[in-house]
Amino acid sequence: MTGIDISDQMLQQARTRHSRPNLECRHRGILSLDPAEGRFDAVLSFAALPHAGPARRVAEHVRGLAAPGGRVVVVDMIDPGGWGERRFHLDRAFSQARLVHAISGDAEAAAIVLRQLLDPAWLAMAAHDQPLTREGFHTLVGEVFPGAVFTDDLHPLMAGFAWTAPTTKTPDAAPATQPAPDDRSGPPADTG
Ligand SMILES: C[S@@+](CC[C@H](N)C(=O)[O-])C[C@H]1O[C@@H](n2cnc3c(N)ncnc32)[C@H](O)[C@@H]1O
Repeated sequence: MTGIDISDQMLQQARTRHSRPNLECRHRGILSLDPAEGRFDAVLSFAALPHAGPARRVAEHVRGLAAPGGRVVVVDMIDPGGWGERRFHLDRAFSQARLVHAISGDAEAAAIVLRQLLDPAWLAMAAHDQPLTREGFHTLVGEVFPGAVFTDDLHPLMAGFAWTAPTTKTPDAAPATQPAPDDRSGPPADTG
């Protein structure tokens, strides 16, 4: 099992909190994973693809990483409208902190959520990496992963799908194209 991220801190957290004998955490960008190095029986991505580059290119690349008969499961943030505005993210930070407090009664937990969602680095990333709308997500995924099964009741800001790669090679299962110059996937070196 291989876990990837371009953040050393996230990799360190994964290694500390989810250590398994068969899990290798690597400093790799999604687009730098080359299907020629080996495809995966299952590809799971949570809230990461909008950060990795142009949506269609990333989706096609992820499709190409699945072995014949392999499973792709993706959950991502979606834009309910207004994502590009700073106000949206400030409102979100306070409503999420309030929700955490309502559920847990834990003021410290609510403060952590607030601090994270108001962190300047988070706000800059959120403004830069705008996710698709739910409609756009359905359209793109429907085209790139024909027959995908959607999940739309996870959260108002999330959408997911599951897809099984064809067992025989078809044009839809063609390997993804090579990274273009606007690749934001980070260095391919295994430095993590
Ligand atoms: C919202 S976080 C989600 C992290 C993790 N999946 C989780 O659920 O806790 C988005 C993650 O995507 C990572 N990321 C951004 N661009 C990436 C890329 N090109 N390839 C792989 N990971 C990337 C970030 O470093 C960050 O850890």
